[in-house]
Amino acid sequence: MEKKMQKKSKIKIRKFRLADLDAVKRLIYNTIDVCYPAVYCPEAIKYIKNYHNRKNILKGAKKGYTIVLEIGHRITAAGALIKNGYITRVFVNPKFQKQGFGRFIMEKLHTKAISVGMKQVKLDSTLTGKKFYDSLGYKTIKKTFVKVENGKKLPYYEMKKILMPKTKRKQKWKN
Ligand SMILES: CC(C)(COP(=O)(O)OP(=O)(O)OC[C@H]1O[C@@H](n2cnc3c(N)ncnc32)[C@H](O)[C@@H]1OP(=O)(O)O)[C@@H](O)C(=O)NCCC(=O)NCCS
Repeated sequence: MEKKMQKKSKIKIRKFRLADLDAVKRLIYNTIDVCYPAVYCPEAIKYIKNYHNRKNILKGAKKGYTIVLEIGHRITAAGALIKNGYITRVFVNPKFQKQGFGRFIMEKLHTKAISVGMKQVKLDSTLTGKKFYDSLGYKTIKKTFVKVENGKKLPYYEMKKILMPKTKRKQKWKN
């Protein structure tokens, strides 16, 4: 996958930097605006946007491992692994979806998780992400929901994946 990607010039995957904050937030909000209205009510979308506010993006980056994928210096995809073994904030710019970038981000996060000794990872998948995670070998623990404004619900899937370590050597967690 990585090799195939490198052929498309100017594609780079790297760790999140503080200066990326606005670009990552824009990526997330734009992707939400394009992808979520088909499946979520406005109250749910408001809740999701608030969940991905600047403070939480920064907190996730400080407490975990956040990566960004750049195409020609433009942040086009992102994802984060939190130290408690949760993967979150996986978003691909709608114009670049279904080209393998989401899988690429996930592979990097899985590699990081394995390198710090995690045996499994968990995530909460929105309705739009379920099939993507299915295709990456995630199993659904349950479908559940969170209550949002006006008595509305935000349904999502709790999912997990057992990781297959390629090496037994455990590294220290390094941001
Ligand atoms: C979900 C998301 C991250 C997937 O990223 P992507 O770059 O489009 O996915 P990829 O191209 O890497 O696809 C990887 C695999 O998932 C499958 N897949 C991706 N999106 C899919 C969809 N909507 N329906 C069915 N399969 C899908 C692909 O077919 C591919 O399978 P393959 O490798 O067997 O061909 C991206 O569509 C996105 O940002 N969506 C909106 C935000 C979101 O839902 N994020 C998840 C939050 S929990």
